[in-house]
Parts: sequence; C-alpha cells; structure tokens
Amino acid sequence: MTKCFAMNFPEIRIELDRLDRELAQLARFSDAEAPAVTRVLFTDADRAARTYLKELFRSASLSVSEDAAGNLFARWQGDQPDLLAVGTGSHTDAIPYSGRYDGTVGVLGALEAIRALKAIGWSPRRSIELLMFTSEEPTRFGIGCLGSRLLCGALDPAVAAGLKDAAGATFDDVRVQAGCAGTLADVRLPVGAYHAFVELHIEQGPLLERADIPIGAVTAIAAPASLRVELTGEGGHAGTLLMPQRHDALCAAAQIILAVENAAKSTGRPDTVATTGVCKVHPDAVNSIPARVTLEIDARDTLLEPRDQVVGQIRDAIDQHVRERDLQASVTLLNADPPAQADPRVRAVIEAACAHLQSSCLPMVSRAYHDALFMARLCPTGMIFIPCRDGISHRQDEYCSPAAIERGTHVLALTLAALAG
Ligand code: GLV
Ligand code: MN
Ligand code: MN
Repeated sequence: MTKCFAMNFPEIRIELDRLDRELAQLARFSDAEAPAVTRVLFTDADRAARTYLKELFRSASLSVSEDAAGNLFARWQGDQPDLLAVGTGSHTDAIPYSGRYDGTVGVLGALEAIRALKAIGWSPRRSIELLMFTSEEPTRFGIGCLGSRLLCGALDPAVAAGLKDAAGATFDDVRVQAGCAGTLADVRLPVGAYHAFVELHIEQGPLLERADIPIGAVTAIAAPASLRVELTGEGGHAGTLLMPQRHDALCAAAQIILAVENAAKSTGRPDTVATTGVCKVHPDAVNSIPARVTLEIDARDTLLEPRDQVVGQIRDAIDQHVRERDLQASVTLLNADPPAQADPRVRAVIEAACAHLQSSCLPMVSRAYHDALFMARLCPTGMIFIPCRDGISHRQDEYCSPAAIERGTHVLALTLAALAG
C-alpha cells in the first residue's frame, strides 16, 4: 500500500429501506423465536442464510466464490483487476439468543455500500471484495473467527479440521457436508493479499451512544483468550453418598467460576474482563452428584500481559480446586491471541469520510473481537463502529437505529471508494 490514500469521495445515497428489509429477512434464518436470533455455523438456518446472501450478492452483479472453510467472497471487479483488491465484510453467524445486528450490518451494509456506489455509475480502480467470514462466533467449535484465522494462517488447517462440536462432529466433516469443496490448507492467503480491509460493525458497548457520536474509528482490538476445562469427579446417588466421600465436579466448577471473576478483578484494570459462559453438567439430574463438568472461559484485555496473567491465575485456581477435591482435569487453551492495531492510514480515510459527511468520529478500542483482528495480519486494516442502544449486544434486545446503520454504511461506502478509487 502506498504511504497515503487519495481521498476522493463520490456523492451517493444509501437505500436504507432495502438494507433494513434485508437485515430483517436475514434475521428470519434463525433457530430461536424472534426477536432472538440463533444461527450457528452450518446448521440449516446458517445454510439458508448463506444461500440468501449468495442470491443477494449475485443480484448485485458480484461474482461469488467460496473457499474450503465456507468463507464467502463477492467481488466487484475493478477497472485494474491486477491491482490488489480492497476487502470489506464481517460475519452472519449469531450466538444463541442474540440479536440481528452483530456482524450482519458489516455484511449487508457492505453490500449496500457497493450498490450505492454502483448506482451512481462509479467504478473502482481496484476490485472491491466483500467477505462473509465463517464462524466468527465460537459457539459450535469453541474457537472464534475460524474463517479469518484460516485465511491469515493463525490456525493450523489440520487442527481446524479436527475441532469437534458438542456432538463429536469435526469441522472437516460438517464443512464438507455443507458443500465446501477443497482442502483447508488452501484457505490461507498470502500476507498482502488485500490492499486494505475495512469492517463495519456495531460497537457492542456504550461509548458512542454516551458521547452522542455517530461513528467510532477503531484504533486497536483487544486480545482474547479462551480455555476449555473438563472436570471429572465421581457421580452417584444424591441421597446415599455422604458428604465426606464426595468428589463433586460441579462444586469444583463453582469455585473455578468465582476464581475466573476474581482473576479479572485482581488486575485492577477496567480493561480486564473474564467470563465463564459455558457450564455443562453430566448427568444433569437433580438427584445425581455431578460427575463431569465442562467449562468454557473467555478472558480479555487490551494489553497482552494482564490478559496472560489472568489466564495464569485461572490455571492455578483450576489446579488448586481439582487437587483439593481429588478430581481429574483437562485444560485446553483454545486460543490466546495478541491484540491488533488498526492501520493509521485506513483510520485516516475513515476519519476523512466522516469529515466529508460532517460527522464527528471517536477514536476507540474494540473490546469485542472481530474478523478484523485476523485480517490485520494480512493487510492494513480498519474498523468503523456505529452505536447500538445502551451498548447492548449478544442479547435479543440488541438494537441499532436505522439512522446509525445508514451513517455507518455511508462512511463505509466513502471509505471503500477512497481506498479503491
Ligand atoms: C465476538 O463475538 C466477541 O465475543 O467479541
Ligand atoms: Mn458476536
Ligand atoms: Mn460480531
């Protein structure tokens, strides 16, 4: 990428009604009743959503392709197809009982941005490629950003192939069943595969709304880590097995869950967070002592060192409570990623687009992770945030106003135009 991006902003109009309709339609591909959305990787709902997206991409005259991991690519060929393309996009999978805006605004918003540019007869010098990344959410295979990790080589394809879901099916099996051809080793792209990448996303936090600022320009993305802990104790009859003889896996899990919370608080930093979001109990019967428990733990910080300190404390707590109760434990570090920095040049384009629209813009850190965390390893990357009501996300009452979506899509379109023009 050259040192400075040319700023050349066309006058466009975002067709908000169409975008709103498409967001509503996408939300219907769900395994939860509206307004909740559940769309887990390669379930029928996810596959139907993918078919819908491909139709939309094709009807916008984009050429659609799919890699072996199920990442979708919709390309608008530039006047100089030999130049590196500009990438944009996000994800459309949705965690259980979540809302309709997380990720989807970055995919359908990007499509609308492209259509708005096409509508005025503008054509890009560089191709613009819209990406819909496979499984940004960790719901099915325990690890987030599966598609973008594979694209940038952050995940060994053989490890990805062997990841198992709760029913024991491997990622390799389910992606082949979903019709993804080719081998996972072929998914990886070379460093520098794109001229730049820009992701539009709802903030998922309260800062923009509180400051009454319509756009956030992301400066960095916080470092996530996650662990799976499998505790094995001894089951038995809840009435007859007396307390001194017990090896209750759920009691140990309860102590570990509290240790997770304490570890995050112990750094004294507002940027440290840790959560135990999954707790599965076997045999899950009221009159049976829990014999096995699986926990999934998520720890994050904007800095690597306190994040790793928290992961270390969690591991120590697991050792301690397992020893005290004479249990067995297996601990898997599913991921421990460094933070990513947004490229200042891409940020400058986002800020210039905001200035062109006479819109204020807040530089901010993303505390949620995104596919941009991994795209930043491939090319200069930036993110555009828009406010969501009360900062709520990963809940069915997640809401983003039409005005916020329109503004974000407009800023994205201008950013793409300047990067690709
Ligand atoms: C992404 O969904 C995250 O959990 O940050
Ligand atoms: Mn999410
Ligand atoms: Mn998301």
